[in-house]
Amino acid sequence: MDVTVVVPTFNEGANVPELVRRLGLALDGVAAEVLFVDDSRDDTPQVVEEVARTSVVPVRMIHRERPDGGLSGAVVEGLRSARGERVVVMDGDLQHPPEMVPVLLAAAADTGVDVVVASRYTGRGDAGGLDGWHRKAVSKVSGLLARSMFPLRLRNVTDPMTGFFVVRAGAVDAAALRPRGFKILLEILARQRLTVAEVPFVFGRRFAGTSKADVRNGTRYLMQLASLRFGRLSPFALIGASGAVANLVILAVLQQLGVHYLPAAVAANVLTIVGNFLLQERFVFGDLRAEGRFGVWGRFAQSFAFNGTEALVRTVFLWWIVERAVPHPELVQAGLILVAFMLRYVFLAQVVYRP
Ligand code: GDD
Ligand code: MN
Repeated sequence: MDVTVVVPTFNEGANVPELVRRLGLALDGVAAEVLFVDDSRDDTPQVVEEVARTSVVPVRMIHRERPDGGLSGAVVEGLRSARGERVVVMDGDLQHPPEMVPVLLAAAADTGVDVVVASRYTGRGDAGGLDGWHRKAVSKVSGLLARSMFPLRLRNVTDPMTGFFVVRAGAVDAAALRPRGFKILLEILARQRLTVAEVPFVFGRRFAGTSKADVRNGTRYLMQLASLRFGRLSPFALIGASGAVANLVILAVLQQLGVHYLPAAVAANVLTIVGNFLLQERFVFGDLRAEGRFGVWGRFAQSFAFNGTEALVRTVFLWWIVERAVPHPELVQAGLILVAFMLRYVFLAQVVYRP
């Protein structure tokens, strides 16, 4: 098998027959297969099976009952089970013209690079099919952001957000990828050192149905960028810092409302510990949650025990210092949080992560 075309699908039944028909024509004479990785909740799987019976190009499908990692997760799953030496990744809604596939494959063969990117932003490429100026703007700005964070890896890539590309199967280590959200190419290029060429293409309009991109995917993208760049530390530090600010605000507001500073500090601590835990679950360790040894309440109990003890010690110091030396609870609390943070860092650096 020379080529596998991986197509992630989520409720794309109305597009599948036309896509397979045009791929069949485009791949005439190529030893190729089309592999749908389907997370649909409608009759798309039946449509794929139906089309597979009569199509000229062999069609396979992985239907996922427990979709993991969304669009990117589906693509990675496709990469893992692709049989072709080259793997084409493309959308199932015909915004990526099947007639471009032979062009991309030819570029891959001519240049010998690991990845050929179909770009809307080079040469005669065009993003016409993105509806509305705001989606075009979002696409441009997020591409710019990605390129400025990975200047070396994305040097030759004008469209790191595209969902249309070809990879050499042997060049990509699918196991190393941490897929989430929509931006699988970025994930691949940022994590691995690969050679890249680009081919311009015109992003068409959807053949049928509606886009699945939304604001949630947008936030995922920012988190993805941050963790690709800074590893786990960055969302972790971000959450810690916002927790500290929230703590001080709650402390101040409750006192304004007439609450004594000690119960106010306890409330602020409890609220921020719970808030940090929830954010951490969602954004820092999201991908590890399923594999860990403990359930959510177990993780919460441990996290609460650790942070609660720290908060308790801190509150005793708060009381002691406010009563004896500095009668400004917010100020003292801010200092104590900072000291606790530094102690934690020193402990981690000197004990836990000591080389
Ligand atoms: N398996 C699976 N699981 N497929 C999905 C999922 C999912 O959770 N979400 C979306 N898809 C499939 C869709 O069915 C479609 O075939 C393809 O992924 C792209 O989804 P669209 O909903 O059409 O997204 P878009 O057109 O807004 O976004 C496209 O353009 C962006 C660039 O502007 C995609 O190619 C993006 O990857 C690309 O960044
Ligand atoms: Mn689309």
